Amino acid sequence: MQWGKKLFTARERIVQGERHAANIFASVQIGQVKWSGELPPLFLAPMEDVSDAAFRRLCREMGADAVVTEFISSEALIRQIEKSWQKAQIWDEERPVGIQIFGGEIDSMRDAARLIEKVSPDWLDINYGCPVSKVVCKGAGAGILRDIDRMERLTYEIVQHTSLPVTVKTRLGWDVSSIRIVEVAHRLQAVGITALAVHARTRADGYSGQARWEWIGMLKADPTIHIPIIGNGDIDSPQTAWNFYHTYKPDALMIGRAAIGYPWIFQEIKHFFKTGQLLPPPTLEERIEMIEKHLAYALRLLPEPPQKIVLELRKHYTGYFRGLPHAKALRLSLMEARTPEELRRSLRELPSLLRSFQKMPDSLSAQTLSPEAAFIQR
Ligand SMILES: Cc1cc2nc3c(=O)[nH]c(=O)nc-3n(C[C@H](O)[C@H](O)[C@H](O)COP(=O)(O)O)c2cc1C
Repeated sequence: MQWGKKLFTARERIVQGERHAANIFASVQIGQVKWSGELPPLFLAPMEDVSDAAFRRLCREMGADAVVTEFISSEALIRQIEKSWQKAQIWDEERPVGIQIFGGEIDSMRDAARLIEKVSPDWLDINYGCPVSKVVCKGAGAGILRDIDRMERLTYEIVQHTSLPVTVKTRLGWDVSSIRIVEVAHRLQAVGITALAVHARTRADGYSGQARWEWIGMLKADPTIHIPIIGNGDIDSPQTAWNFYHTYKPDALMIGRAAIGYPWIFQEIKHFFKTGQLLPPPTLEERIEMIEKHLAYALRLLPEPPQKIVLELRKHYTGYFRGLPHAKALRLSLMEARTPEELRRSLRELPSLLRSFQKMPDSLSAQTLSPEAAFIQR
């Protein structure tokens, strides 16, 4: 069975990567958007408080082929809550882009789907995967995985009431004893969705254990499933992307956590697929430049006040410094910045800070920073 195959060793991977890079991917279409060429399209995953307009644009520039907004409450959209409509604001530079909505009420979901048309996303994505209790208990997000009839009805209503292509992002099932993803794919395909993104875990899995990609292989091995299957879960390097793609053959790959503070992941994956070689990691200078650009986009595109934007950027720092010596100390040194000016100044000081740490063990450098930075870290 295709999905029972072991993952490739590094050596096999590179040899096979060179041999197969060009001959598996055909083309994928969602509505008017079509990706074709040598490589499978790479999607930036929807991530609350992460996949905002600034980060989406950055990821597109770094090689993501498509992006999806963070999830937006359908109830809030129909109640015209300004913050939710701000989350639905998209820009031509980031296209192709999907807007993701969630909610447990059929009426609100249907109305929100119709209202979203005025923003003209390339498609509308429905969230059936959020595991958070306050979402699930309302029958929204992954909550609906306990009632597939309702999921089918809700999806049908949305497809019928919007002119936008509709995609769904979901998990495998509620728990391992109730995985029904193959049935879900059939039923949602029958009511007219255009593509299905699958985070290969159950709701009960949360984020623990390993994503169960064999189920994505199962979906792709079913000749009666025609809609594109977007595989998601645990792609954290070019090698895992390559292995998952060649072992389970999804139509596209979706990347979430590995992109946080590391938009290079998209170009690294593409380079590896094309050449079988790994790109060198970004230098400190390149990382500083990327943070500056991220900040500039956020200030330009997001409605929040500058100080809030600086605080929100913090969640990307772990990614931005991953793999560098003294990463923790470098990250902490930015934590004290409260304004864009302070952040830019701290960024400019990073190269000399790194030089000053160079003869020190990693464990010591973080301790040399101010008590405030150490406190923030706690
Ligand atoms: C901080 C964070 C926020 C997320 N928010 C959403 C969301 O709004 N909508 C959604 O469908 N999934 C959301 N997810 C799940 C991701 O889209 C993705 O399915 C999951 O992280 C697994 O992919 P990964 O292993 O590449 O991270 C979120 C994940 C994280 C880590």
